[in-house]
Amino acid sequence: MAIRKVGVAGCGLMGSGIAQVAAASGFPTVVREVNAELLDKGLKSIDKNLNRLAEKGTITEAAKDEIRGRLKGTTKVEDLQDCDVIIEAIIEQLPAKRELFGALDALCPSSTIFASNTSSLTIMEIASATKRPQRFVGLHFFNPVPVMKLVEVVRTIATEPAVYEEVVAFGTKLGKTAVRAHDSTGFIVNRLLVPYLLDAIRALEEGVGSIEDIDKSMMLGCGHPMGPLTLCDFIGLDVLYSVCESLYEEFKRDEYAPPPLMKRMVVSGHLGRKAGRGFYTYDG
Ligand SMILES: NC(=O)c1ccc[n+]([C@@H]2O[C@H](COP(=O)([O-])OP(=O)(O)OC[C@H]3O[C@@H](n4cnc5c(N)ncnc54)[C@H](O)[C@@H]3O)[C@@H](O)[C@H]2O)c1
Repeated sequence: MAIRKVGVAGCGLMGSGIAQVAAASGFPTVVREVNAELLDKGLKSIDKNLNRLAEKGTITEAAKDEIRGRLKGTTKVEDLQDCDVIIEAIIEQLPAKRELFGALDALCPSSTIFASNTSSLTIMEIASATKRPQRFVGLHFFNPVPVMKLVEVVRTIATEPAVYEEVVAFGTKLGKTAVRAHDSTGFIVNRLLVPYLLDAIRALEEGVGSIEDIDKSMMLGCGHPMGPLTLCDFIGLDVLYSVCESLYEEFKRDEYAPPPLMKRMVVSGHLGRKAGRGFYTYDG
């Protein structure tokens, strides 16, 4: 079965990006939010992105209108039922994801493929809320979705090989480089990235270098586009905290244990760029 129509659940930071990329890749796309206000906010952020691309000449005005024409927003979960694949990008909470997929499982034909964009939950634990774990995968995109080239395609112990191959091909049709990963917490990227970021925080705690010097060292010494503490601020300290807790819970290895400074930053609201303050302070 070919994937022709795409459904996206959640039109927040990631869902709006995924919906934009699916529509831009030629797929009729339906994106669902919980209420009209949040839907409007998500669709406006897509419009802003598309306008910026048109102003820069990356896409024509006609292409912008075509992309927008392929994209439909809704607050009704039923409007996702005729999609061939549904990509979930709602809040990172297992009960919410299980409830949504349970409802979608009852609504959708048995052929529909379900995918979760979770960063740190176990795909199998979400899939087990449905009667179709063989048609369930992880599709882990990166922020900002229209810019970042990678998607991790995650198979569980139950995913059917043919379904998996279809989703890998779909990831490529979205213009991404699809890498294959098993359903192991953190998949490939977070499993490798998180210990590095936590070590940068520990180096700061232990006085090895200043915030600026730790960042400069990794940019100029290793050619990274941004330093680890800037990256922590960009991801959000709260988000990173919950990812490292999931990794620690799964592997019980010290490298995933949250450093004390990180916990103190989270409880005091120093969450990074979105809060105006993290390792750095941000205006506006
Ligand atoms: N932010 C990142 O950098 C990043 C990267 C990769 C993966 N993810 C994952 O993507 C998912 C979404 O993250 P985000 O950063 O876009 O979050 P977000 O808070 O920006 O967006 C989530 C949206 O889902 C909506 N939603 C729709 N249906 C819902 C339902 N039934 N229950 C609850 N909320 C519902 C919420 O209203 C909200 O607008 C999470 O699973 C997260 O782990 C995030």
